[in-house]
Amino acid sequence: MKDLLILGKEQIPDLLLAIVTGVLSFFSSVGIAVLAALLIVNASGVGGGLLSSKNTVILMAIFAIVRGLMRYLEQYMNHLVAFKILCMLRDKVFAAVRRLAPAKLQGSNKGSLISIITADIELVEVFYAHTISPIIIALICGITYLILIASFSPLIAVVTLVSYVVMSVILPVIFSKWAKQHGRAIRKEIGHLNNVFLDLLRGMTEIMQFAYRDKAIRTVQASNKTLVDKQSRLIEQLALLLALEDVVVVLTSGVAVLVGVLTGLSWTILLPLVFGIFFSFPPMINVASLGNGLSQSLASGERILNLLEEEPIAEEVKDGIDLNLEDRVADPLVRISDLSFSYGDQSVLEDFNLDISEGEIVGIRGESGCGKSTLVNLMMYFRPADKGDILIAGHPIQSINTQSLWKNISYMTQSAEFFEGTIRDNLLIAKLNATDEELRQALRQASILDFVEKLEHGLDTTLTELGDNFSAGERQRFGLARCFLENTKILLLDEPTSNLDVLNENIILDALKRNKKDKTILLISHRESSLKICDRIIQM
Ligand SMILES: Nc1ncnc2c1ncn2[C@@H]1O[C@H](COP(=O)(O)OP(=O)(O)OP(=O)(O)O)[C@@H](O)[C@H]1O
Ligand SMILES: [Mg+2]
Repeated sequence: MKDLLILGKEQIPDLLLAIVTGVLSFFSSVGIAVLAALLIVNASGVGGGLLSSKNTVILMAIFAIVRGLMRYLEQYMNHLVAFKILCMLRDKVFAAVRRLAPAKLQGSNKGSLISIITADIELVEVFYAHTISPIIIALICGITYLILIASFSPLIAVVTLVSYVVMSVILPVIFSKWAKQHGRAIRKEIGHLNNVFLDLLRGMTEIMQFAYRDKAIRTVQASNKTLVDKQSRLIEQLALLLALEDVVVVLTSGVAVLVGVLTGLSWTILLPLVFGIFFSFPPMINVASLGNGLSQSLASGERILNLLEEEPIAEEVKDGIDLNLEDRVADPLVRISDLSFSYGDQSVLEDFNLDISEGEIVGIRGESGCGKSTLVNLMMYFRPADKGDILIAGHPIQSINTQSLWKNISYMTQSAEFFEGTIRDNLLIAKLNATDEELRQALRQASILDFVEKLEHGLDTTLTELGDNFSAGERQRFGLARCFLENTKILLLDEPTSNLDVLNENIILDALKRNKKDKTILLISHRESSLKICDRIIQM
């Protein structure tokens, strides 16, 4: 709770307005109830009414208008505060995901991340819009009501105090403790369900053709059932809580009447007093009801805060140096010395050494799983090495500003990703201000210009979400075009030609060779035909 409050501290002025309007709104509704009781007293002819009936009705009308206005403002301000904070939280979560990417996100459950970004952040709304101000409002209203009641009957004030405490302290504490486990479990299960779904969506073709179908259905059903079980337990608690709240209100009013009668309080005072007490409970009920909803909200808050506090595997370097590869640089341009790396206790690289001079094309081959992609990941500083050094132009990569490192190296991964948007959008991510001529040049080098020009909308053709309306080879060539467009001095190409036919492979290799003089290329490939353009080939 404390951490969530600190996150929302900028919204305190708006929150204060919500509290003031909330208090005024509850005061007016109690005022209407008390005035109604006075009307009854006047009408009964017992006499001794404090106000004339006419003035009472006028006052009631004023309270009614105030109540409406204040209620509106309170709800408006509370939600405004909450949604502003949620907006800020979404930004923070996205920044955290970016900070953790890619190493911490590899193999981590993306479904869980999606549920944090969507459902969890929505649920924290309960905390900001329906927790802080209700508690403070209940406190202010409660104290004020008790003082007023005590001025007529100290004994009834004591009875009411006990009920207020039961309602706004004991009930929420008991129920939130009770619901806490369920809240956490429900949030976790929703994340799990998202994961299962995402997994199944991605693997739909495999599910259809292999024997996984029934198991897939059972997996979804199992997760779904666990979720509903946990949710129904929470609902049972909610129902019990609502019933108990009513019991407290009715009992308190009954006992107040009894005490009033026994202590000889006149009906002209007792009736308005009891009406007032009966209608004074809503702020306390708001607090009592927190126990249930708050458990999920806090569980969500916890998941968000955990993500925000998570440390990346390789911290982005910000106070290092910026690379300048335009001037004459040290030789070799890339030096890798005694590099060792393991995933947990699975050792992948041991004392690996490699020098790459400016303008060289170095090929790397080696059996699948020997650590080629891992090496490139280390060169991009996605993960820090366990031992040894990687120097670019003489600088250890952990002393180079990460943004500068990435700006100077184009890395084409084994499976290039594309985003929703047009071909143009997907190319421009490599160079925001590229002209159409530059785009065409890059596409030509990647041997995909003819294909694009034959499309009805050309560069404006949209790729669907995962780019799967293109063939694997086309995707690969688009990925390469992006690298060519970025036009950096160092190119790391991880299997750039694995899905290409000989003709396209040759066009691309020619393009690489032609631009060789101001490029330094590390080419990972299983294909001898691709490695033939290399000056040197390393067997890993
Ligand atoms: N994120 C990861 N966590 C744990 N182990 C990993 C991870 N990524 C790769 N590995 C393991 O490390 C080893 C090296 O993987 P890497 O991807 O570097 O191989 P590769 O040489 O690129 O193989 P391929 O030719 O099939 O692409 C493999 O045994 C792989 O299972
Ligand atoms: Mg690989």
